[in-house]
Amino acid sequence: MTTLVTGASGQLGLEVSRRFGRDGDVVAMTRAQLDITDHGAVLATVARARPDVIVNCAAYNDVDGAETDPVTAMTVNGLAVRSLAAAAREAGATLVHYSTDFVFDGQSSRPYDEYAEPAPQSVYASSKLLGEWFATGTPRHYVLRVESLFGGGAESPQPAGRRLGSTLDRIVDALLDGRPVKGFTDRTVSPSYVPDVAAATEMLVSRPAPVGLYHCVNGGLATWFEVAQVAASRLGCESLLSPVTSDTVEMRAARPRFCALSNEKIVTAGASMPPWEDALDRYLVARGRPD
Ligand SMILES: NC(=O)c1ccc[n+]([C@@H]2O[C@H](COP(=O)([O-])OP(=O)(O)OC[C@H]3O[C@@H](n4cnc5c(N)ncnc54)[C@H](OP(=O)(O)O)[C@@H]3O)[C@@H](O)[C@H]2O)c1
Repeated sequence: MTTLVTGASGQLGLEVSRRFGRDGDVVAMTRAQLDITDHGAVLATVARARPDVIVNCAAYNDVDGAETDPVTAMTVNGLAVRSLAAAAREAGATLVHYSTDFVFDGQSSRPYDEYAEPAPQSVYASSKLLGEWFATGTPRHYVLRVESLFGGGAESPQPAGRRLGSTLDRIVDALLDGRPVKGFTDRTVSPSYVPDVAAATEMLVSRPAPVGLYHCVNGGLATWFEVAQVAASRLGCESLLSPVTSDTVEMRAARPRFCALSNEKIVTAGASMPPWEDALDRYLVARGRPD
């Protein structure tokens, strides 16, 4: 099986390339090698590589930046997915595309499933929803909503000169450095461990599972403060932690307060998405936490 990975130097792109490369051929394209907003380049690259699967890990992820640069957000997260879907259709390939919990408005009090109605509250969220729609334009597609990714690069080499990571990675960085950490008590998430997301992606494609939309997160939910509390307790440094509410921090884009997702559908399809605490433990071991 040949897999073409776009955005291959991002946190998920690196891990997906590593994972799919274990049992097959991978054509890993960084942004410098393939800009997915270049429609002609996308069509030509896919026609040349003739992949069985295209995994789109490229994205514009600057949630606040998208408010002032909506054209870039819409182009990368939306229109470029239309090009990838057209190329996949042409090549008879399966398209895997990642989206986000931010497509919801956060008004729920129980985890969102795949039938819940999206109601994006920001430019970033709208651009990701547009990408979802375009991804469904190819017959064999998997749209995987992930959330609060962490652990990208923990088990694979980091690109030279920069460290990959999102909120939880930065929390663990700070705790390991002995720096204070503030955790939101009013934002609820279902963190997603990058190696588990990559493994679930491979499972869906190789079975193959029924095509469509899946919520691809680790099990359970917690506020950011609770997530940080578990990390701090595992590292024995709870005193570094303090609670804070999100209204004390100025952010340009609106963010949903409650964005836990239910992973029941993807688990029923055969993915192993253990509780986030289990994933956090494996992440800390991968980062070299003394046991
Ligand atoms: N991180 C999270 O917590 C989170 C949450 C929800 C959903 N997601 C979704 O999960 C997926 C993977 O995210 P991630 O965290 O792995 O992202 P990431 O680490 O920011 O990586 C994104 C990659 O896309 C590349 N890229 C940007 N514009 C491009 C373009 N025009 N053409 C080709 N490549 C381009 C970037 O290249 P450069 O490095 O050169 O800029 C980068 O390598 C994305 O769809 C994202 O929206 C992530």
